[in-house]
Amino acid sequence: MVRAIAILIGAGIVACLAWALFGTVYSAVTDPAPPTAVEEFHRHPKEVELASNGLLGTFNERQLQRGLQVYKEVCSNCHSLKHVAFRDLTQLGYSAGQVKKFAADWAVKAKQFDPKSGDTTDRPNTPADYFPTVYYPGTGNPPDLSLITKARHEGPAYVYSLLTGYQDQPAALLKHFPDAKVPDGLYYNPYFANLNLAMPPPLTQDGQVTYLDGTKSTVDQNAKDVTAFLTWAAEPNLPARHGYGLAVLGFLLLFCVLSYGAYQNIWRDIKH
Ligand code: HEC
Repeated sequence: MVRAIAILIGAGIVACLAWALFGTVYSAVTDPAPPTAVEEFHRHPKEVELASNGLLGTFNERQLQRGLQVYKEVCSNCHSLKHVAFRDLTQLGYSAGQVKKFAADWAVKAKQFDPKSGDTTDRPNTPADYFPTVYYPGTGNPPDLSLITKARHEGPAYVYSLLTGYQDQPAALLKHFPDAKVPDGLYYNPYFANLNLAMPPPLTQDGQVTYLDGTKSTVDQNAKDVTAFLTWAAEPNLPARHGYGLAVLGFLLLFCVLSYGAYQNIWRDIKH
């Protein structure tokens, strides 16, 4: 008797759950939720051609130097780069002397605590220092850029697309989603996750940065170069990693050939 009641209650619960599931699926099919502005207007990053792309990608030193210049003259006003040390810049082809001067001239000075007086004072950066943290009083929180190309899906393509993707809010968007007007103090960018971000367009006109190597300084070029630089910042040992990968594949290939030879040798006189 008790058993029959238990089975009945169980069957009742299963029936309820099945009914609820049916209701959810039915309404999802017959009356789907209307698409949101983000679903309709968010765009996938554009492809960007960088020397570091692909399995054998490596860095283009001159492009990294130009990217550093864009970071220094534009992005570093708001964004920190706290995981990169000045001495790492020798990997960009600068001499130790050049790096020393670059660090000493860096506008934001290193902080130094004097244990005797208890005061914190400024001192020029040395090559051993990391890029100092930037104070940013404006709207929004500019993230540290050291690892940004790793922190975002399709990092380099995303950063490049974001920098070159600012535009006016499309009229079609406002027509379909009248409530989705860009909030005050934000800027429309279809590559940003929620379409509106607090970063004012940082690269607005060609020639904003004057390159020393004669490369034409366009917004597109600036965006590419700083993207290449940030890709290096996030993974400076990328070319070495690609090199190891190739060497390991070569070794495995050779190992396969040798194993096959050994197999042939061992089984030579055995019927199998
Ligand atoms: C005037 C200050 C300012 C400048 C200059 C600036 N940014 Fe930003 N940036 C911001 C702010 C603020 C945010 C945060 C935006 C948000 O979360 O809405 C941001 C966000 C970002 C993001 C992250 C977007 C995300 O997915 O979270 C990237 C990447 C970025 N900036 C790259 C750059 C690069 C590269 C430069 C130089 C070419 C640059 N920014 C120059 C203020 C600035």
